Amino acid sequence: MTKQIPRRIILGPGPSSAHPRVLKAMSNPVMGYLDPDFFEILDEVSESLSVLYNTKGTSFAIAGTGSAGMEAGFSCLAENDEEVLICNNGYFCRRMTLMAERLKLNFSTLDFQWGTAVDLEILEDKLKRSDIKLVAVIHAETSTGVINPIEEIGQLCKKYGAKLMVDCVTSLAGTEIKFDEWNIDYAYSGTQKCLAAPPGLSPVAISEEGLNYIKNRKSPPSSWYLDLSGISNYWGKEHIAHQTTPVNLVYALREALNITFEEGVENKFRRHELMSDALKSGLKSLCLELPIDESIALNQLTVAKIPNGINDDNFRTELLRNYLIEIGRGLGEFSGKVWRIGLMGESCVASNVFGILNAFENLLIKNNHEVEKGSSLSAASSVINSESPKPY
Ligand SMILES: Cc1ncc(COP(=O)(O)O)c(C=O)c1O
Repeated sequence: MTKQIPRRIILGPGPSSAHPRVLKAMSNPVMGYLDPDFFEILDEVSESLSVLYNTKGTSFAIAGTGSAGMEAGFSCLAENDEEVLICNNGYFCRRMTLMAERLKLNFSTLDFQWGTAVDLEILEDKLKRSDIKLVAVIHAETSTGVINPIEEIGQLCKKYGAKLMVDCVTSLAGTEIKFDEWNIDYAYSGTQKCLAAPPGLSPVAISEEGLNYIKNRKSPPSSWYLDLSGISNYWGKEHIAHQTTPVNLVYALREALNITFEEGVENKFRRHELMSDALKSGLKSLCLELPIDESIALNQLTVAKIPNGINDDNFRTELLRNYLIEIGRGLGEFSGKVWRIGLMGESCVASNVFGILNAFENLLIKNNHEVEKGSSLSAASSVINSESPKPY
């Protein structure tokens, strides 16, 4: 017998639920990736991504998940004899170092304590004393729930002549990104988080300078498949074939972008903020500790400490089996210490906030924690009711 695909409420660090319209768009007929009618769809997606990234530069989508966008950046934006700096304050920064190692890049890391943001003074000091040509940083670090100050980092990169590569996997469509204004040279994301599409594409933006750099490198990028210049030639006017495009995923991305603009980008950001405030308020009323300072805490992902006496695996298993709710476990230094609750894209709705708080309340009571019944729901409710709901 074939395994049935179970129903889930996915409130982890990603993927998040896909919008039904996005899933429907995917079921359209497959077209040839060199069909002139498909090129019109590519153009639409490219323009919409540029609006979302706030750039006059080039935007397109790479076949592959967010990590493909990460690897493309490292493969293309530094020659092996150039100094690369990775700002390291979480699990996905560590992934960056693993890639840089395999690509034999000349890199160093600037390490910050998990749960804190990149320290600008330390970064400036490092940039002042070295000849760094590329700085890589995560905008929204999903392992710690911290947002990094990209605008200020961009100013420093400009001052010291380094290109800036930013991981926007969790931020795109949930938090504002001002690619041009913040002096970003390359940003990549994933479709499966705030965009509310399934995983499989990495929407990216690249500056003119970044593209020129790749075209004029001494040696070609180490990866043919992830050569950003080759992929941009396919998405550009000439439509030069690179690899077969996953066309149905492009339909999905186009629909996800349409839905984002129908809601209004600002409204979508505000939805993420409001639901996050409601969730955080509810969790606090359950006496759960939220270790990340409010000033740097993400809206898309909330980190809560696992209280003493709770078995992490059992708790999450019961949440999944009895409530169909998935949340994330801690990664790296936070492993076994925290839960990670995502409210992204289609998963970021009031019913999910109430659903998870109710489940948490019941499970904490079952585990002999003193919790006032209903308190978290009423805390979340008063946050959500403080604003007249926008249609979504
Ligand atoms: C901040 C961040 N960067 C990179 C990735 C890797 O993306 P993917 O799993 O889509 O390859 C993730 C995945 O969760 C992420 O949260």
